[in-house]
Formats: sequence, structure tokens, C-alpha cells
Amino acid sequence: MVNNRRILLIIGGGIAAYKCLELIRRLRERGNRVRVVMTKAAQQFVTPLSVSALTNERVFTDLFDLDDEREIGHIRLSREADVVVVAPATADLMAKMALGLANDLASAVLLASDKAPVIAPAMNPRMWQNPATQRNVTQLKADGATFVGPETGEMAEAGEAGPGRLAEVPELIAAIERTTTAPASALTPGPLAGRHVVITSGPTHEPIDPVRYIANRSSGKQGHAIAEAAVKAGARVTLISGPVNIADPDGATCVHVETAAQMLAAVEAALPADIAIFCAAVADWRVANRGGQKIKKQKGAEVPRLELVPNPDILATIASLSKGRPGLVIGFAAETENILGHAQAKLRNKGCDWIVANDVSADSGIAGGVMGGDRNSVHLIKADGHQSWPEMGKDEVARALVEQMANSLGEDRRSSKRKPSATGKAGAK
Ligand code: C5P
Repeated sequence: MVNNRRILLIIGGGIAAYKCLELIRRLRERGNRVRVVMTKAAQQFVTPLSVSALTNERVFTDLFDLDDEREIGHIRLSREADVVVVAPATADLMAKMALGLANDLASAVLLASDKAPVIAPAMNPRMWQNPATQRNVTQLKADGATFVGPETGEMAEAGEAGPGRLAEVPELIAAIERTTTAPASALTPGPLAGRHVVITSGPTHEPIDPVRYIANRSSGKQGHAIAEAAVKAGARVTLISGPVNIADPDGATCVHVETAAQMLAAVEAALPADIAIFCAAVADWRVANRGGQKIKKQKGAEVPRLELVPNPDILATIASLSKGRPGLVIGFAAETENILGHAQAKLRNKGCDWIVANDVSADSGIAGGVMGGDRNSVHLIKADGHQSWPEMGKDEVARALVEQMANSLGEDRRSSKRKPSATGKAGAK
């Protein structure tokens, strides 16, 4: 429960603004005081009167309203809040925030605020995906903002679907609660505080020519979830991701790559690390005779033959480092049969400390499948045995794995036999 917090809600102009009425009710039910600033456009979607009735407060709408300014003023409005929430955050409002513009009450309050806001975007998917919006999102994250959503789905406009829906009210409340409760690391250090965790995630794309590539179905959801869980556990996290359609996790340093070779270079550049987790579905081969120009389809000409050469095995390369090997190296194994047997062999062959094995077969029993889906059923294989976990969400797998990582480092610290450090353990395998 947030309870007794002073929440300043900035409502932007979008069809999703109606959800704010429900948000206000739920926040007030929890004993919070909610003050609201509405942009001019927001007032086209919900009226200040209904917002005022639900907040039991006056609603602030105008930068140049002398009465408002005399009574409270835009500086005090932002300072007298424990948390500032922008929902729905339109592309326009986010652009203003990213640039530091202050030409209406909402943007002036945000600029005058001394708190990093919680931002819940909602807009047409094309506006969300526009590079300009994505640049602004990156900037706002770098400035410390917490993002919740947008969710993917049908839009209010007929026939439009994609990322851009305002997060649901429970998600908004959870994000607000997380922000208003000081992060674990600020109060008691998280179990991975002071640790550097490097994670690979997603697929790689191996170019055939400048327009075509070889890829796979990895979504990056599991790797990104581990990054998020490690951040929450207080770690410094470097996430190296292949091309994915999901957002960068808050609080992690994200490096975006395309090919296996780039991924290996990024991992090497990110070391030293205490823990390295190789979750990415790295392409096993790349095209040797890659064209500099688009391969043309010509009538009567021979069908092009692709010559493949092996990609570097990033996990095996890092696990076999004699200098600077991370203290704990974890690999993943996606198998379709004899899961435990193959995974145990992989643990030995790759020289890693743990393997997280999952069943990616069509008959895994997981609705929608593991690859691309939100659920997973894994076995955690270590040198001295294995655990089989029940089916759970990828975020739960991530949390459970992070807990095991923290315990393992704790045991190391206690026994001082295997001492993980920023320089790693030399020749551990
Ligand atoms: O050999 P296989 O692809 O099944 O091994 C899977 C594990 O190895 C995963 O942890 C994956 O991230 C890692 N891997 C890698 N580089 C490769 C191939 C796999 O890091 N080229």
C-alpha cells in the first residue's frame, strides 16, 4: 500500500485519459492524496469537473492562472508531491520533457520538479515506434524516469494494433508503489549490491546481404527479465541484446547489437563482471560469402548458394578465459528432447558453472510455447546435481535464478574458497 503519499498526476491528452479516473479512485482508496494537472488536450477527453470530484481537490490547468499561481504555484505543486506520475504520457508531452520545454502548466511543473517521474505512455503504435519518440524515451530513462507500459494490443482507432496502450491500473499502481517505496538498495543493500552482472539476450541477425539476414524466434523476454530482476537485487547490470521488440529494462546499461561477432565484442568490452549469463539465442553460423550489394534475382541465373561458417561460441569463450573469467558463468540450453542429458553435456562442453535448460519443443505443455511466450519451465543444472522448477512466468524464473545467484555468491563469500571479484576467478574450470 502506498498510503498517505502525495501524488501529483499529470494527465496528458489522449483517449486513455479516461483510465485516470479509475487510477485516481484506486489511489485514493489506498489513502493517498492525489492532485491533478491536466493539459489543454486532456480536457478534451475528461473534464476537470469529474477529476475534481474524484480527487476532492481543485484541478490545475493553466500556467497563467493568477489565482492558482498565487495560491500554490507550479514550483510548489511539484515540490509538494512524493511522486509525480504522467499518465497518459503523449508523444508530445514526452518530447517536451526530454527537451526541457515549459510552455504550459504540465511541462512547467515537470521541469520544476525535483523528482524523477513515473511515465505511462499511451499513443498510436506508429507514434510510439517513431525514432523521435524512442530517442525521447531513451533520454528520459537516462534522466531517471521510470516507464510503465505501453502495452501491446488493439488501439481505440479501428484497425490499429501494436505497442501504445496505456498500462492497466494495477500496473500503474504497482509502478507508483515501487517508486514511492525507496529502492531496496537505498535502505538495505540488495543481495547483489556491488556486483556487476553481464547478460546476453535475444536473437542475433546474421546478414546475407545488406537487406537479408538469418535469424531465429528468440524474443529476449527471459534475458530481459533476468536483467530486470538483477537490477532490483541491487546489481549493476549490462544487458547486451540482439534485435528484439521489447523495451530495455529500467536501470540496466543496454548495448544493442546485431551479430554474434558484435555480441562477443560487447561482452568482452563489458568485463570484468562477477556473473555472466548467456541467455541469447546466438546464431550458430554466419554467411561467409556475404554480399556487399543486394543479391539480385535474375531470370535463368543460378540460385545463390550460401556458404556458412561457425560463429564464435560466446559462452564457451568467456567460460574458458584464463584471466578475467566472471566468478559465475551461466548458460542456457534450449532443447527439444533428452533435456537433462543434453544440458549436462553442455555444462561440461562449454565449461560453464550452471546451465538453465528449457524444453522448447512444440509439446512442452506450455501454452503458446516457450520461445516468444511469457512462461517457462526450466531445470537448473549444476556440477553436483539439478533442480526441476515448476512452470512459471519468465519473470518468476528470473527472480528465482537471481536468488540462487545471490546465495551462491554469499556462500562463496562465507567459505572464501571461490572468491568472486571484479577481476573474476582465473582458471576456475
Ligand atoms: O550450443 P547451444 O547454442 O545450444 O548453447 C546454448 C548456450 O550457449 C546459450 O547459453 C547461448 O547463449 C550460448 N551460446 C553462445 N554463443 C554461441 C552459441 C551459443 O554464447 N555462438
